[in-house]
Amino acid sequence: MRDDPIKIADAAGGSPAAAVHTTDGAQAAPSIALHHRDFLTDVVNLPDQSIDLILADPPYGLGKDYGNDSDMRSGEDFLAWTRHWLELALPKLKPRGSLYIFCTWQYAPEIFSFLKTKLTMINEIVWDRRVPSMGGTTRRFTSVHDNIGLFAVSKDYYFDLDPVRIPYDAATKKARSRRIFEGSKWLEMGYNPKDVWSVSRLHRQHAERVDHPTQKPLEIISRMVLASCPPGGTVLDPFMGSGTTAVACAMHGRHFVGYEINADYHAVARQRIADIPHHVPN
Ligand SMILES: C[S@@+](CC[C@H](N)C(=O)[O-])C[C@H]1O[C@@H](n2cnc3c(N)ncnc32)[C@H](O)[C@@H]1O
Repeated sequence: MRDDPIKIADAAGGSPAAAVHTTDGAQAAPSIALHHRDFLTDVVNLPDQSIDLILADPPYGLGKDYGNDSDMRSGEDFLAWTRHWLELALPKLKPRGSLYIFCTWQYAPEIFSFLKTKLTMINEIVWDRRVPSMGGTTRRFTSVHDNIGLFAVSKDYYFDLDPVRIPYDAATKKARSRRIFEGSKWLEMGYNPKDVWSVSRLHRQHAERVDHPTQKPLEIISRMVLASCPPGGTVLDPFMGSGTTAVACAMHGRHFVGYEINADYHAVARQRIADIPHHVPN
């Protein structure tokens, strides 16, 4: 079991890590803690109100093989387990903190209803995985989306849209060149990504892909980290898998604490962090 914090690589290549500012004004690499532990038993070691953002991509209750039986619960058993880990995780959030939770249409209604008794619901984001139609299902419409709930502890939750705005393309800018749009700040700053995110899932040949069956695209996770965790803040990922959230935190100057019970996935996450070139303070 390797739990010691790991160093971001000194080698060049890839996207570099970003620094965090320390209290004395110096710059340091973010702390990336990758625990090979069960979140549900280890969460007691996290101080309450220490986390800015919980980014949770748990087993979906659909019987995926993660090399363990963690996704073999279904129905009320799965929902009871989900409520249990959420009850353990939510006290860890700071007063301005928030939570993203990935789930599917099968269980989203119950999970969101439960969370609405604890937190304020901000968004339901639909991740369109852009899966091409390949025949198959004929008795219903093919499902190509994941449901993501965004919830906050209070109405004063941290949220910064600017780093995740999408730039307008040249044609749109030109089309908006009429006088009434002149000097419009939003035209230069880019637009709100909205709540339907069309980002391809990571197929086997994808450059980003590592050895994990449900690895999430860095583009999606980075957007969540940048919008919902302040620079230098701390992100908790209770079910980190291949460590995508850890990579996003290292690249964007946020501290990270994550848990994974599968030793192979934990090793993959360690390697992904070790491969990130060291940030050189400027
Ligand atoms: C949906 S995957 C996460 C994928 C991850 N977001 C990524 O991009 O690679 C869920 C992960 O949770 C792990 N897991 C299941 N139960 C756990 C527990 N109690 N504590 C920690 N990890 C757990 C599984 O082994 C699996 O790798």
